[in-house]
Amino acid sequence: MINDKKILLCVTGGIAVYKAAALTSKLVQAGAKVKVILSESAEKFVTPLTFQALSRNEVFTDTFDEKNPHVIAHIDLADWADLILIAPATANTIAKIAAGIADNMITTTLLAATAPVWIAPAMNVHMYDHPAVKKNLSILAEYGYQFIEPSEGYLACGYVGRGRLEEPEKIVELIQRFFAKDERRYLKGKTVVVTAGPTREKIDPVRFISNLSTGKMGFAIAEEAKKQGADVILISGPVQIAAPAGVELVKVETADEMYNAVLKYYESADIVIKTAAVADYRPKVTYDQKVKKQEGDAKIDLERTKDILFELGQRKKNQVLVGFAAETENLQEYARKKLTKKNADMIVANNVKASGAGFGTNTNIVTLFKRSGEVTELPLMSKADVAEKIIEEVTSLLKDMDQNGNC
Ligand code: CTP
Repeated sequence: MINDKKILLCVTGGIAVYKAAALTSKLVQAGAKVKVILSESAEKFVTPLTFQALSRNEVFTDTFDEKNPHVIAHIDLADWADLILIAPATANTIAKIAAGIADNMITTTLLAATAPVWIAPAMNVHMYDHPAVKKNLSILAEYGYQFIEPSEGYLACGYVGRGRLEEPEKIVELIQRFFAKDERRYLKGKTVVVTAGPTREKIDPVRFISNLSTGKMGFAIAEEAKKQGADVILISGPVQIAAPAGVELVKVETADEMYNAVLKYYESADIVIKTAAVADYRPKVTYDQKVKKQEGDAKIDLERTKDILFELGQRKKNQVLVGFAAETENLQEYARKKLTKKNADMIVANNVKASGAGFGTNTNIVTLFKRSGEVTELPLMSKADVAEKIIEEVTSLLKDMDQNGNC
């Protein structure tokens, strides 16, 4: 849930700075984008180079060290962040922020920030209990700042008590939970349409053209979207699995029926995910009676079905549109072509020949191609985990669309 989340870590000067280095590393490993500001005192404990190496970003220390002439660094950093975390937060910095003082890079950036601010205090137990610190913390609480309470234990000053910076693993977990809730809230009241399974194109009453799709990926996506609070409409071709609880299931058989069903819900949809393996061709003629075999070869004339994803791309207004690409070769090239040709916002591509990927399996290996040009290659994962990742990505595309008018 913190993949690509932008976290601005403000490190102030206390012995717990060493834990902030570990925290940076864990946040990066969890997929977050991390930028670090060090206070002058923090630099006395650990050098900026440590944080630069761990965050893979330049580190900010001085309000007047403007590295990029196109932006004002403290405003740019404040605007960039999805979450600002001060860890460790010293009594001194807490006091300055409470008083609205802006005398260094951290305090100045905070005054310009609109993102949620989290404070993880770390100090001696008596300092933490001092009425001045308590008063300052309550002022910050009134500003809407959140706290990661220090834990109890052995303190560097020799005391045992409350004042230790919370462990980096725990802080990462709290941040993950925060963003998970945030995303969940975002899909509440939104409508997600998912198509799944194969379609069947009838030749006669006993024969049809179809494919190997089992619906597992689409059903997992529908289930995840429901979990995240969305109203979910699952339009599925014939499959053997049960619909997830709370999801509205619309059963269809042919590509034409799927087209009509999807169009019916398209106007009111916020997100459409076209997982279905729709038949590209159907028999030109469907016989009412079973076709009897004849001597020699037989031939079926086929005609194209409607390309539903393409049609949706043409009619797209504010929907986030996601297509799938099941390929057996040239994955990147074909996926990128589909993204453009179908006017989709994201294509989820997989090589159905790879072991652990494709039809019928409980796992998948997919690569996500976005309009922004961003490509995310995911490892072998369960279809439930792939679904979680896809829903996370489309939620953030929808957020961008709602905020900026495009994905
Ligand atoms: N799709 C669709 N309508 C169709 C066929 C496919 O909406 N008639 C959707 C699928 O649900 C999927 C995506 O389009 O999201 C797949 O793209 P497509 O180009 O149709 O893939 P293939 O059917 O594999 O086609 P190609 O032979 O060009 O690879």
